[in-house]
Amino acid sequence: MHNPSLIQLKSKVSDIDRARAVGRVVSTDGHTICVSGLEDEARLGDRLRLLRNDGSILMGDVLCLSGDGLTMLPDALPQRIALADRVMLSGRPLIHPDPSWLGRIIDPYGTPLDGKPLVPGPVALEIENEPPPAVSRKSLGERLDTGFHLFNTMLPITRGQRVGIFAGSGVGKSTLLSDLMQSIEADVVILALVGERGREINNFTQKVLGQSGLKHAIVVAASADTSPNARVRCSMTAMRLAEFFRDAGQHVLLFIDSITRFAEAHREAAISAGAFPSLRGFPPSTPAQITKLAERAGPGRFGTGDITGIFSVLVAASDMNEPVADMLRGVLDGHVILDRRLAERGQFPAVSILQSVSRSLPEAANAVENDLIARARRLVSKYQDSSALVDAGLYTSGTDPELDKAIAFDRIFSEFCMSRVVSGSGESFEALRLCLLRCGGMKD
Ligand SMILES: Nc1ncnc2c1ncn2[C@@H]1O[C@H](COP(=O)(O)OP(=O)(O)OP(=O)(O)O)[C@@H](O)[C@H]1O
Ligand SMILES: [Mg+2]
Repeated sequence: MHNPSLIQLKSKVSDIDRARAVGRVVSTDGHTICVSGLEDEARLGDRLRLLRNDGSILMGDVLCLSGDGLTMLPDALPQRIALADRVMLSGRPLIHPDPSWLGRIIDPYGTPLDGKPLVPGPVALEIENEPPPAVSRKSLGERLDTGFHLFNTMLPITRGQRVGIFAGSGVGKSTLLSDLMQSIEADVVILALVGERGREINNFTQKVLGQSGLKHAIVVAASADTSPNARVRCSMTAMRLAEFFRDAGQHVLLFIDSITRFAEAHREAAISAGAFPSLRGFPPSTPAQITKLAERAGPGRFGTGDITGIFSVLVAASDMNEPVADMLRGVLDGHVILDRRLAERGQFPAVSILQSVSRSLPEAANAVENDLIARARRLVSKYQDSSALVDAGLYTSGTDPELDKAIAFDRIFSEFCMSRVVSGSGESFEALRLCLLRCGGMKD
């Protein structure tokens, strides 16, 4: 045994873990799987690899741990599982991001979904991460050009802001998200499609992003038929990718469609693990999960880039007080509420101005611009207060000069809300000023 290469080989072999723990399936309820033999080494959230009798593999996660064994939440329905099937630990869920991933579509575990090989980056990152400490974060950055007069003026979006688009089903959340994605300039776009229909994944990548848009984007997708853990991780992986590019000094535009499906997937996983649904069907851990995810977006530390986050929020039965919508309104720096009645009238984006708020105001606009915004809001509010009277034909024009202006403004303003911008926010404020002049809401 004096051959140096043999000695080297021997030392390498001795470094390898000779024994690899193997667990065995002891029971399954058709949804989760109980495994014994891995409880001493497994950690919550670790990945597991189950080897069926026929040689096929079923991946899953450690959902619960006890002295007697662990519970596995599989990525797919546990069909053809037999007692004593072998289960092995597969480590923490990690991704190896790399700038070459731009232009690609991946699943929450970093597996390519577009049929081409994906080159892993040199560093492995856990997909869970902490938000930057509040005191070391920058403030919100400059106002971004959104492509819409409405958002450039009344509801500005600034660099590093986190905005929610709230609406019931089919009111235009995804379409608005895709319009903003095409208009807002950023170094990198990350899009998480959580629990969407398979058709929508293709629609976003082919029609919305197109070949040129996709060059600067990474799409992370977990369709509605994937496991709850995959849907939770879809948002987290997208966030981790956004953090990776942010830490490299870039401005990242992160879209999550939808964050409600993230909360619902968390609920499914938590209830399978035995959590009690106490918050109108959601387990008590839901607010912490949502808050942590939202906090990871936003302005970065000094010397790094920023993550501007735009999240769609599905509001069941348009009830803005339902738990997920209520939590998110408190956490985010702005909420855009879409109104089904406006969509039914064909007004897109169907934004309800009075209910929507951008917390980047008043700082995001100068004094003259803030004055224009305040005048427009007053007229919209005045019209709304009396709209039932006006619509019923019970108002005689000339009775209330302010209401006359508000009625005139309503007609012009609907056009303004739908109009797109050609040259930037200066043009949008000029268009708003002209709307106010035309209805008598201000003097020249
Ligand atoms: N800007 C628009 N112009 C014309 N039609 C629109 C526009 N935005 C939305 N729509 C109409 O509304 C429908 C639903 O839009 P979208 O899929 O964006 O809604 P959603 O709120 O994301 O729905 P879901 O809750 O099902 O995800 C579209 O199929 C289209 O008919
Ligand atoms: Mg949608």
